[in-house]
Formats: sequence, C-alpha cells, structure tokens
Amino acid sequence: MRVPPLDLPAQYAGLKQEIDRAFERACENAWFKLGPEVERFERDWAERCGAAHCVAVNSGTSALHLALEALGVGAGDEVITSPLSFFATAEAILYTGARPVFADIEPETFNLDPRAIASVLTDAARAVMPVHLFGHPADMDPILSIAAEHDLAVIEDAAQAHGALYKGRPVGAVGHAGAFSFYVTKNLGAFGEGGAVVTDDADLAERMRLLRNHGQSGGYFHSLVGYNYRMAGLQGAVLNVKLPHLDEWNARRREIAERYAEGLAGTPLALPREADYARSSWHLYVVRCPDRDALKEHLAGAGVWAGIHYPVPLPDLEALSGGDLRETPIPQTRRACAEVLTLPVFPEMTDAQQDYVIEAVRRFYD
Ligand SMILES: Cc1ncc(COP(=O)(O)O)c(C=O)c1O
Repeated sequence: MRVPPLDLPAQYAGLKQEIDRAFERACENAWFKLGPEVERFERDWAERCGAAHCVAVNSGTSALHLALEALGVGAGDEVITSPLSFFATAEAILYTGARPVFADIEPETFNLDPRAIASVLTDAARAVMPVHLFGHPADMDPILSIAAEHDLAVIEDAAQAHGALYKGRPVGAVGHAGAFSFYVTKNLGAFGEGGAVVTDDADLAERMRLLRNHGQSGGYFHSLVGYNYRMAGLQGAVLNVKLPHLDEWNARRREIAERYAEGLAGTPLALPREADYARSSWHLYVVRCPDRDALKEHLAGAGVWAGIHYPVPLPDLEALSGGDLRETPIPQTRRACAEVLTLPVFPEMTDAQQDYVIEAVRRFYD
C-alpha cells in the first residue's frame, strides 16, 4: 500500500462535472480577470468567515502583504510573528520594508505564545501576526488585548485554517484582517494559486481593492502605486464549486484526527489536541516523536508519506542571514523543529490507508 500526503485526482473526480461546467461558463463569458465568479466567491467567503468584506487575490502571500501594506506597515516598523511557520509569513513582512520579530511558540499548540509577545515588544512594534498553524487557532483574546494596549494591528495568517473556530468564531476576522491561501494543497484549494483577505473594516477593504489592482481607481487613473494581485476568474470558478464541500471535508479530517488519537494512544508519540477555545481545521496532523528522522525513514520504506513542518525556525533560514533581525529567545520553536512529524490527513484517505499508517508507526516503536 502507498499513502500519499493528499489525493487531488480523487477530489477532482468527485466534482468533475461541476468544475468542468464552471470552467466552460467562465471561458464562454471570458471571465478571466476577477469578474462574477470571483465576486461571488468574495461574498460567500466573507459570509463564511463572518466578515463584512473579502478581497480575493492571487496567493496567500499576496494576501498577507496586501493586508500589512494597507494597514500602513512599512520601513522602520516591527511586526511580531511566529518563528514556526511557512516562510511566506516572514516574506510578506519583509516586502513592506518592516522587520519581522519572532516571539516563541506555545509547546502544546505550536502557535505564537501571547506571553512571549511582551518580551519582544519595542516602540517600533506596529503589528502582530499570529499564525493559526496546522489549522489550530492561535489564542486570540490575549493577543488582541496586548495589541489594544500597545496600539498594534492584528493580522491573522489563516492560510492553513479554513473553517477553524476560535471560541466558536471563524478565524480570519477575529483580528483586524485575516489572510487565507487557496494554494492547491490547502483545505480549500484552487487549481494552482489563490488567496484572500477578510476584514470588517470597510476603508481597509477599499484600500486593499485598490492596491491589488495597480492602485487603479478608474480606467487608467492610478491613485496609488499598487500591485497586480488580482485573483484569476478560473480560480474563483473552482473555489465556488469547492466551497460548499469545505465542511464535509473538514469533518472527515476531524474523524481521521480522532482515529489517529485512538490508534496511536500508548505509543511514544505526543499527539496533537485541541485547546478548549479551539476547533481545528486539521490541515496537518503533527505529532512530536523520539527518533523523528528514523521514524520518517521507516514510514517512507513502508510507502507512507510523512513530512516535517517545519525543519528550521524562520530566523535561522539562510535567506534571513545577514539581515538586521533582532535575536529573540525561541527555545520551544527549536525543540519543535527537532521533534515534529506530519502524518497524512486528507479527506479522501481511506480507513484502510490510515490503519496501515498506524500499524507502520506501531511497528517502528515495537
Ligand atoms: C502559514 C502560511 N502562510 C502563508 C502561506 C502562503 O500562501 P501561498 O502559498 O498561497 O502564497 C502559506 C502557504 O503556503 C502558509 O502555510
């Protein structure tokens, strides 16, 4: 048996007729740049997130950058974020000219530790960017209260957390703005790249709409220097077909997470658990384990994919060496990078595939 990280052909097979029809309609009407499909997705995604506005863009990275820039973050500013994330979290901050400042994570949730924020705060801090890593929401209330006290904007990196809930509220519009990625492997994935920012702030949404389209306020009238961050019409079309399935896909991911919790109980693995305030989207199922690299190799030998999210803390990445980062203590992040292993979880995974993974892990420790 082989167990892959995900099975996109199976997902497409289930939706083929609807997706093909949506593509045909978009092509027949030449809805290639933004257009009605993207507008419909913006309305539905805003509603799904409980937000007043959604601005669809061409990637999650663009969404983060757009939100930061529209909030006025720039050179001389510091943005406090998590050192355990995909590199785009830091890149987006750097694009604005601001400096990312890394506060350590909580060991249980792998998310930015609200208590660590205070220890890295300076007068230059302008924003906080928590990441809802692996689909598990960051603890937003203490983050929002530190932010209010110090007049910081809060931008959620919700790239991995479609449909996740913080105290019953969808993530994304809990802070001032939230950025999503619809990269092909995400819980809600486009056919290639896509992203969006949600917010309740009408002025912010308006600025982001201008910035994503070259600062263009009317035909060739440009009031700002912006970007070409428009979402492609075909991506809007596929997202509209997929969005109604998000809940059932997330429910299946949850079922798989629960089966892992049962099947792997009693092994030396430390299994992920939801905090009492959180409902995870279970984007990734990340365990901590002794002999991580040997277990990964053993699984590969058995035909089971396993990943490492992430092997290196962001501030240690080569791309950031030689920059003017402030050194901050991140012992929990360093420990996590040495111990984490991601097991396959995707909605189309069969029970037989999962039992095979569980069996393979058990065999390693036996
Ligand atoms: C946490 C996080 N932030 C940002 C991004 C960037 O999104 P994209 O790949 O759509 O640019 C990703 C996704 O890959 C991510 O996982």
